[in-house]
Order: sequence, then structure tokens, then C-alpha cells
Amino acid sequence: MIDHIQSILQQGLKAIEEATDLTQLQEVKNQYLAKKSALMGIFSQLKDLDAEKKKQVGFEINAARDQLTLALETKQKTIETLVMQAKLKEEVIDISQPATHAYQGSVNPFFLIEQTITDIFVSMGYQVAEGPEIESDHYNFELLNIPKDHPAREMQDSLYFDENTLLRTHTSPVQARVMQASQGKPIQVICPGKVYRRDEDDATHSHQFGQVEGLVVAEGINLGHLKQTLQAFAKKMFGEKREIRLRPSFFPFTEPSVEIDVSCFECGGKGCNLCKHTGWIEILGGGMVHPKVLTMNGYDAKKMTGFAFGIGIERVAMLRYGIDDIRRFYQNDLRFIQQFNRK
Ligand code: DAH
Repeated sequence: MIDHIQSILQQGLKAIEEATDLTQLQEVKNQYLAKKSALMGIFSQLKDLDAEKKKQVGFEINAARDQLTLALETKQKTIETLVMQAKLKEEVIDISQPATHAYQGSVNPFFLIEQTITDIFVSMGYQVAEGPEIESDHYNFELLNIPKDHPAREMQDSLYFDENTLLRTHTSPVQARVMQASQGKPIQVICPGKVYRRDEDDATHSHQFGQVEGLVVAEGINLGHLKQTLQAFAKKMFGEKREIRLRPSFFPFTEPSVEIDVSCFECGGKGCNLCKHTGWIEILGGGMVHPKVLTMNGYDAKKMTGFAFGIGIERVAMLRYGIDDIRRFYQNDLRFIQQFNRK
């Protein structure tokens, strides 16, 4: 019996030795250590033996089982190590290979600048308001002191849906909308958005472009507030060293009206091609809200005053980034847009 155990043990050890993968090893384990295996079968024969013999044979079976178990475990570790080594060898990473990049899109500079302008004014406490792009004649013109036959309409022709409905020609109608909604209370808003004009498209004109309107209404607002506000804006947009200057201008909805120039950020004011050798670059229009506009939109012009301004988004972006043609904003040429990747 003991010889039989020994021979099973030797066969088992040999089978373990010869196994080359985990599946084979599992088969060997089933064959030699399962309940129905030859080795375990010997247990059932113990009952016929005398006590001394029983003890001896029992000891031998347990010893054989422990030896096989240990051999199995050792072999399993060896195979696992070999498998892992083979895998590591196969999956070796060549760090000298060029990397594959995930494609990252870029924001069109139009939206970069719209966002920058918005951030600057929001940081000064402004709210953001929006209005419809399809606007009525009443809001686009009448409530801004541009009556039907006013010559200022000449410059702002647009696409009409009917006699009284058009694609808005500027963001200024949002001024009227905000004033009416605010019912005589103080206002501090900007209104970014798209506007439309019957314009011939060329390097500096487009039939569609973006504006950011600004409006502040409260007791005691004066031109000094407008100047200070736009000075702060110019510094944040074009650099701390920038100065602004105000020139008289005309808009029907402001009185007085001003054109605002910023000192040239290319030459610092000495004169260069960008500023046409004047040292100054025109960036936006503004002024004190016309008393008629305040009155028409529900404000007591004797008690409250306000200032307003309108910034052209593409114009600021072109100056800031040195873009030579407004049409580049709309052509979706990746070679252009990818230059504005925030990376
Ligand atoms: N709405 C004017 C335009 O499109 C720009 C403008 C000028 C807006 C002066 C203003 C302003 O609010 O005060 O030409």
C-alpha cells in the first residue's frame, strides 16, 4: 500500500514537473488531489487495516498530499512569473516613439474676445443682458431717437422681414429693453451679441458682426464716469500703459457723443503703420444717454443720467491679435483658428 502511495506520488510530481501552463497544472491537480483521485481513494481502504497500520498509511497519504500540494503551488508561481515576464516583454513601451495626441479644438478669436470683454465688465460689477436679433423698428430705431426719416438710418440699413421687423443693426436696442424692464431703477449692464448691416463685405466690413453694448444709469452719472470706465477697460484689454482720449462725435441716442481712441499699443504712441502715424487707434463709440432716450424708456431725465458705449468685437480682436481681414473670423479655416488655441 505504501509502495502504491509512493508510486502515485512520484507520478504526480512528474506530471507537475511536465505541466507547461496553468490549465495543464489544474488538470494534474484534479487528477491527483480530488476526492476521487487514486491517492484519496486509499483512505476508503483504511478501515480494513489494524490500528498501527492505519496510522502509518494515513500518515503516508497525508505526507504525499502535502508534498503534491506544495509542488503544485511552487509550479503555479513559476508559471505565473513566466507568463508575466513574457507579457512585459511583449508590451514593452518604446518611449522614443512620437506620441499620439488627442485632438484639441480651439476657440474662434471672436468668442475669445467676446468672453474677455464680458469678463472685464463683469469684474466691474456689470450684469449681462441679451436681446433678440430679430428686432422691431420701434426698438432698433425709434426708442433710440432715430425717427423714420433720420439720416442716421442710412448707415444702418438691414434685412427687413416686413416694414417693422428687421435683423437688428446694433446692440443698442437692448438698452431700451433693459431700461423698460428696470422701471426707473439704476442700471449697470453690458449686452453682447450679433448685429447685421447691409454692408459690402471687405477687409474691415461684414454684413454680420458682433458688438458689446454698455449702459449705466443712475443719479449723478457724468462723462467722467464713462471716461474712467473705458480707461479701465482699455488697460485691461490692451495693456496697463494704455491711455484713452475722447473726441467729439455724433450718435442720435447720446448727447454729448464721443469716439474713444486708445494710445497705440504697437508703437506706444510714437506713430507707426497700425495707428497711421497718429499714435491713437479708434476703438469704440459712446456718450451720455440722450435725455429723450431716457424719457421714452421710462426714466426721469431730470433725476437720472447715464452713459452708454458700443464696442465692435471683431475690431477689438483684430487690433489685439493683429488680424488683417475680418472675413477670417467666419471662414472656418483651421490654420487660422488653431493659432488661438489657449495652450
Ligand atoms: N450703436 C452704435 C453703432 O452701432 C454704437 C454705439 C455708439 C453704441 C455710441 C452706444 C453709444 O451705446 O453710446 O454704430
